[in-house]
Amino acid sequence: MKKILLSALAAMAALTASADEGMWLLPLLKSLNADVMAAEGCRLTSEQIYSVNHSSLKDAVVIFGGGCTGEIISDEGLLVTNHHCGYSSIQALSTPEHNYLMDGWWARSREEEIPCPGLKVVFLVSMEDVTDRAAAALAEGGKEALEKFKEDLENSAAASNPGCEAEVESFYSGNVFYLILYKTYDDVRFVGAPPSAIGKFGGDTDNWVWPRHTGDFSMFRVYDENGRPLKPKKSLEISLKGVKENDFTMILGYPGSTQRYQTAAELEMMLASQEISIACRTIRQNVLWKWMEADPVIRLKYADKYADSSNGWKKWQGEKLSFKRLGLLDMKRRDEAAFQRWADSDPDRKAKYGTALQEIAEGAARALDPLCAFQLLYEAPYSIELQQFALMYFYATMQDEPVDEVLAAYKDYDVAVDKEVASVMLKYYQQHAPAVMALDSLGTGFEKFSEIDIDKYVDYLYRESMFTSREKLEKATADTTGLALRLIDDPAVVLSTRVMGYLFSVYPVVTALEKSDASRTYTAGLLEYYGDRPLYPDANFTMRLTYGHVLPYLPKDGLKYAYYTTLEGVMEKEIPGDMEFDVPAKLKQLYAARDYGRYADKKDGKLHLCFITDNDITGGNSGSPVLDADGRLVGLAFDGSWESMSSDVLFEPELTRCICVDIRYVLFCVDKLGGAGYLLKEMKIKK
Ligand code: ARG
Repeated sequence: MKKILLSALAAMAALTASADEGMWLLPLLKSLNADVMAAEGCRLTSEQIYSVNHSSLKDAVVIFGGGCTGEIISDEGLLVTNHHCGYSSIQALSTPEHNYLMDGWWARSREEEIPCPGLKVVFLVSMEDVTDRAAAALAEGGKEALEKFKEDLENSAAASNPGCEAEVESFYSGNVFYLILYKTYDDVRFVGAPPSAIGKFGGDTDNWVWPRHTGDFSMFRVYDENGRPLKPKKSLEISLKGVKENDFTMILGYPGSTQRYQTAAELEMMLASQEISIACRTIRQNVLWKWMEADPVIRLKYADKYADSSNGWKKWQGEKLSFKRLGLLDMKRRDEAAFQRWADSDPDRKAKYGTALQEIAEGAARALDPLCAFQLLYEAPYSIELQQFALMYFYATMQDEPVDEVLAAYKDYDVAVDKEVASVMLKYYQQHAPAVMALDSLGTGFEKFSEIDIDKYVDYLYRESMFTSREKLEKATADTTGLALRLIDDPAVVLSTRVMGYLFSVYPVVTALEKSDASRTYTAGLLEYYGDRPLYPDANFTMRLTYGHVLPYLPKDGLKYAYYTTLEGVMEKEIPGDMEFDVPAKLKQLYAARDYGRYADKKDGKLHLCFITDNDITGGNSGSPVLDADGRLVGLAFDGSWESMSSDVLFEPELTRCICVDIRYVLFCVDKLGGAGYLLKEMKIKK
C-alpha cells in the first residue's frame, strides 16, 4: 500500500514539477502534445482545440490590432482583450472632454459602440505544412527560387480562397514552412473599458511585476462585411469557478518573438543594442513624464507613446538582470561547446554542421557596430516627432499619396514636449555617435555636428520648419506650387533625410546575419542533436498553444508569492491622486460594502483579481484566453513577472510565471462597476 502511495506521489510530483515550457504548433498537438496534456489534466481532444474542418477553439482566438491576441466571447462578435492592447485605439478616440482612456466608458447599446478606424481583427483559417515543396524549391534554385515559391503559393492560395489572405511562414529558422490562411475584419467597434486606474492600475511601476492588481481588459465588437455583428464559427464559454493551485490551464494566442535557439554571440549582440535603447529611452521618458505629470492634456496625448516606450525599456533591464543571475552567456557557451563536440565526432555531421556556430559568431561580429549605430539612430534622432512627420509627409507627397496620417498625428502632438525631446536626444547623439555618422552641416552654418550648438540648432529647427503644428503645415502646403522644393529646404526634412540615409546604410549589414544560412544549418543541427525530445519553434507571431498550471513561486530565498491577488491589495497599494496608484471612488464603495455579487470567490468570499501560471508566453500573447481543462475562459494573460524576464531566451521553470487577470474580476468591472451588465446576456457563462 505504502509502495503504491509513494509511486503515485512520485508520479504526481513529476507532473507538477514538469516544465511546461513550449509554444506549440496547433497542427502538431495531436502527435506531440496530446498525451502529456491529457496526463496533466486537459479534458479536450486535439480536434476540439484545432481543427480545419470543424469549429474548434482556435476559431475564437484572433490577432487583435496587429500585435496582440483577443478572443470572441459571444455569438454576436463580442471580443475581449487586454486594456493595454486596446490602449492606442481607446486613446485615439479620446479627447479631454470624452476621455475614455482615463475615465473608462461603456456603450449602453449596440448603436453607441464606436468604430475604430484602422483597427483590424484577424482569424486563423488553416495551417498546412509545405516544407517538402519549399525545401525542393530551395534545393533546386536557391533562395530566389524559395522566395518565388512562397510568393506563387501565397497568390494561388489567396485566389482559391476568396476573402482570405495567405502567408507562407518559416519556422525553426527556415527549416519548416507552413502555408497559413487568415481572414481579416476591419469593422471593429469599441464597446467599453474600465478607467485607466483599473485597466492600468499600478502603471509602469507594477508593469512586469507580481503581485499584480490590474484589471487589464477592454472590449470590442467585430462586425461583418455587411455591418452586422459577426456570427463567429466559435465563441468561448466563460467559467465563474475560478482557479486553484495546480489547476490545468492552457493559453492559445500569438506570441511575437522569442530567441530560445540563438547563440551566445547573438545574445551578446542583442544585449549591446538593448543597452543603447535603455540609455536613450531613460532620457526621453524623463522628459515625457515631467510634462505628463504637470498637464492632463499632455498626459492623454502621450499616454500611449510613453507606455510603448517604457514597456520595452523595463523589459530589457529585467532581461539583463535575469541573464546575469542565471549566468546565461556561460550556459550558452557550454551548450554550444557540447554541440560542437557532438558535430565534430561524426564526419557527416561535421560536414553539415561543423562550421555553423563559427559562421554565426563571425556574422555577429560584423553586425555588431552597424546594429549599435542603427539602434542609436532609431532611439535618438529618429524619436523626434517633428522629423517623423517631415519624413512621412515628404515621402507621401513625393509618391502622390494621401497625407491624412500625418495630419491626424497632430492630435497627440505637443510641440513644446517634442522640442525638449529633440534637444536632449540630439545632445545624446552628438556625444555618442561615431564620427562618420555625425549629422553635420544641418544648415546651421556649422561644418561639424560635434561643433553645433544643439540648443541653437533646435531653436532654428522649430522656428523655421513648417511641421511644428497642423495649422502651420496646412497653411504652408495650401499652395502646392514649388512645394517639393520648399519641402526639401525644410530643416525637419533635411534632418529626417539625413537620419534615414544613415539608417538605410547600416540596415543591410544588420539583416545580413538573419538572412545567412548559418542559423538555418545550426537549428537543423539542434533538431538532430536533441533527437526525440519534441522541440517547438521560436515564436514568430503565429498561433500557438501553451499548457501549464496555476502555480505560486519563490522569487527569492525565504519568500513565497501566492498564486492569486485580491481587491484588498488595491486598497493596500492606493496612493490618492497618484498617476499610477489612485483608486476610483466607486471601486472603494463596492469594496467597503464587499459587494462582489456572484464574482466573489466561493471559498474565501473575496474578489480575486489576478493569478499566475507557468504557461509559456511572450509579447503578442497579451490578451490571450487562459482556458481551463474544459476549454472555458478563466482569465486573460497580460504580463510576465520580474523573475521571468529571461524567458524569451531561456524558460526557467521555477521562476517563469505568466500573469493573468481573473475573468471574474473582468465581469465584475463590466457589471458592478461599469453598469454594462446587459453585455453578460450574450455571453455563455457557466457557474
Ligand atoms: N508588460 C506587458 C506586455 O509586454 C504590457 C503591460 C502594459 N502595462 C503597462 N503598465 N505598461 O505585454
